[in-house]
Amino acid sequence: MTQDELKQLVAAKAVEYTLTRIDSDTIIGIGTGSTANAFIDQLAAHKHLFKGTVASSEASADRLRNHGIEVFELNDVDGLTIYIDGADETNAALQLIKGGGAALTREKIVAAASKEFVCIADASKEVAVLGEFPLPVEVIPMARSYVARELVKLGATPVWREGVVTDNGNHILDCHGLSIAEPIKLENEINSIVGVVTNGLFASRPADRLFISSATGVDERTA
Ligand code: 5RP
Repeated sequence: MTQDELKQLVAAKAVEYTLTRIDSDTIIGIGTGSTANAFIDQLAAHKHLFKGTVASSEASADRLRNHGIEVFELNDVDGLTIYIDGADETNAALQLIKGGGAALTREKIVAAASKEFVCIADASKEVAVLGEFPLPVEVIPMARSYVARELVKLGATPVWREGVVTDNGNHILDCHGLSIAEPIKLENEINSIVGVVTNGLFASRPADRLFISSATGVDERTA
């Protein structure tokens, strides 16, 4: 199976699961990336079964609107029943690295506002120790060099993702060379550097449920 087929497969499973969790008043949190896109495209057939969505990026919001699915501002809703999103890496505790698509801050906000966070991924994203995928850090542009120097002190090799501006108008530093033994500790340490908006470790608030696809089908894990 190709990676795209694995993404379609796990998206189908996530749609099936989502339909068991929603009613006509539900607002669904929607993530960003190619796996989330597969989910959006398959969810569209069921758009009459829920009220609308909150998106973690402008790109996902555009895709949802193109399907005729309503997109609300997070500030205009009371909270979210369920949030579905992909990941760049996941460990056995369902702690994640996210932000390959530069949407980490809004993803973290939507996850925080959701009762249940369902991560969808193909088996290539599963690792024993987080950190082989460079950890994205969103920074206020004027703080970029200062934050990079502080990240070096934490053992990272930060690389500016040049040309990328987040939906929030900020820059991304990708931290290479990390082997993240204590994800919650590192998440907090990086977030305490002045100028950091947030980082792509989802460890304090991991996924609640993971659907992971491989050639043998889709496995379900819970935290
Ligand atoms: C975007 C993300 C994505 O969830 C992550 O990059 C996975 O993307 P894909 O589904 O395309 O592999 O965190 O900021």
